[in-house]
Amino acid sequence: MSRKKLIAGNWKMYKTAQEADDTISQIIKNYSGAQNSDVWIAQPFVYLQKAKEQYAASGIAFGAQNCYTKDEGAYTGEISAKMLRSIGCTFVILGHSERRQYFHETDELIYEKILSALQNNLEPVYCCGETLDERNAGNHFAIVQKQIETALFLLSQEQIQKVTVAYEPVWAIGTGVNATPEQAQQMHAHIRTLLSSKFGNTVAANIRILYGGSVKPANAKELFSQDDIDGGLVGGASLVAMDFLKIIEAAE
Ligand code: PGA
Repeated sequence: MSRKKLIAGNWKMYKTAQEADDTISQIIKNYSGAQNSDVWIAQPFVYLQKAKEQYAASGIAFGAQNCYTKDEGAYTGEISAKMLRSIGCTFVILGHSERRQYFHETDELIYEKILSALQNNLEPVYCCGETLDERNAGNHFAIVQKQIETALFLLSQEQIQKVTVAYEPVWAIGTGVNATPEQAQQMHAHIRTLLSSKFGNTVAANIRILYGGSVKPANAKELFSQDDIDGGLVGGASLVAMDFLKIIEAAE
């Protein structure tokens, strides 16, 4: 097993241009590189054009929080994977629960987006996870299984190797209540078993599965020390430079 940890920040719809510049400067100034982890930051679209210059030489990769299924066309208001790639993005978060909840994204649509990202050489971070009701009803493993099967099982052996999975229990996102390391590990192991049943052990052993949902400097180390947790997708704590840096340290 040789999975390098990955810490990915997800800024969501936060920060003005000035605030974004200030946060990036603080991160760059205090970040001295990571040996054992990759560091990615997903910013709002409007700040990505500048990112190439801002992150140059830092080793931090930047990407987006969504993209459309098509490369170009009359789709007012949408942004394509092709456009993102053309300004230097290397990854895109797809299927976040907020997009599922507020923008009615389905597993089928997300699959189309994943394909478009892959065709444009962007690495998708595919988010899955159950709601509190689904967990309380004991359906969490089945729900996540369906999300994984519908959005990922039609990919080729080659394509799946470019995908990162993020397990984000909806009840833990932005609530301050994180899944316990045991709960998260159980689900991550479940996801890896599913991937292994479809793509084989070797491929599944190399796919990174991130945990997301109230990752903070105080809980990061314990979460990341679980066998199948390969880092974090970090929302709220990624908005504060020093907290984000502490979470990277925890992964190191
Ligand atoms: P949170 O968000 O860290 O603020 O809970 C995580 C996410 O939604 O990716």
